[in-house]
Amino acid sequence: MGKLGFLLFTLGSFVLASAKLPKFIEPCSKSAADFQKCCTDHGNKALPLLLQGDKELKIPKLNPYHLDKVVADAGPNLKITLTNIELQGVDSLKVTDMNVDFDKKTVYISLHAERVMLIGTYAIDGKILVLPIKGNGPLNITIVDSQFKYSFSYKLENRAGVDYAIVQDNDSLDFKISKSYYKLDNLFNGNKAMGDNVNKFLNENDQDIIKELSATIKAVITSIARTTGGGVLSTIPFSELFLP
Ligand SMILES: *[C@@H]1O[C@H](CO)[C@@H](O)[C@H](O)[C@H]1NC(C)=O
Ligand SMILES: *[C@@H]1O[C@H](CO)[C@@H](O)[C@H](O)[C@H]1NC(C)=O
Repeated sequence: MGKLGFLLFTLGSFVLASAKLPKFIEPCSKSAADFQKCCTDHGNKALPLLLQGDKELKIPKLNPYHLDKVVADAGPNLKITLTNIELQGVDSLKVTDMNVDFDKKTVYISLHAERVMLIGTYAIDGKILVLPIKGNGPLNITIVDSQFKYSFSYKLENRAGVDYAIVQDNDSLDFKISKSYYKLDNLFNGNKAMGDNVNKFLNENDQDIIKELSATIKAVITSIARTTGGGVLSTIPFSELFLP
């Protein structure tokens, strides 16, 4: 899990249940020549509706996505706690590619987000890269033009004669963020000169900051992806999602 430990305090565990295929999820035929394109198109159509949440599929409302608390302990030199976080702009997510390898039992999804904003409250103490940073207050991190490659393995589980796909927890996520903007208000007890200086530093070194926060970003995105994908797969019979 990299050098960052993390804790997420939001998602409950899935209750196993079955549901009818909602109208907005159109199945694809495994044997179709355009299977990959079908998955991409249908995935893209279903995504905005899934992100609105679905009781039957046990998917909470994901747009905006609310996180009560994220503790990102970036090694011994930096402590970051984010509270009352709202992830806005999740609805700008688009599926750019989706495929399933039925032999390897693995699903591949590529996504693009135009603009995602993380709004909430931060508490930070330590050093980021080489710079001392300390304070607490309102936070705005804005992420522009990001790409995500998510893949996961599944295991078929038979319940009352019907197969459901269960997402395995060795899923993987890679991402690329073109640009990120940081605004941490009230750093150093509101010392404006020092606060401005650190914000300037964060914005000028945004790619390095992303690297430092990579494990936390992955944890948040992965939890959204697992909730959404796991919700669909664990409740809808596999043979209804993927026709022969
Ligand atoms: C967060 O920052 C972005 C980029 O600077 C800005 O466009 C947006 O309005 C800010 N959002 C809030 C809620 O302050
Ligand atoms: C995940 O673990 C399963 C066994 O539980 C294995 O079959 C699969 O190949 C693994 N997937 C990845 C992407 O490592």
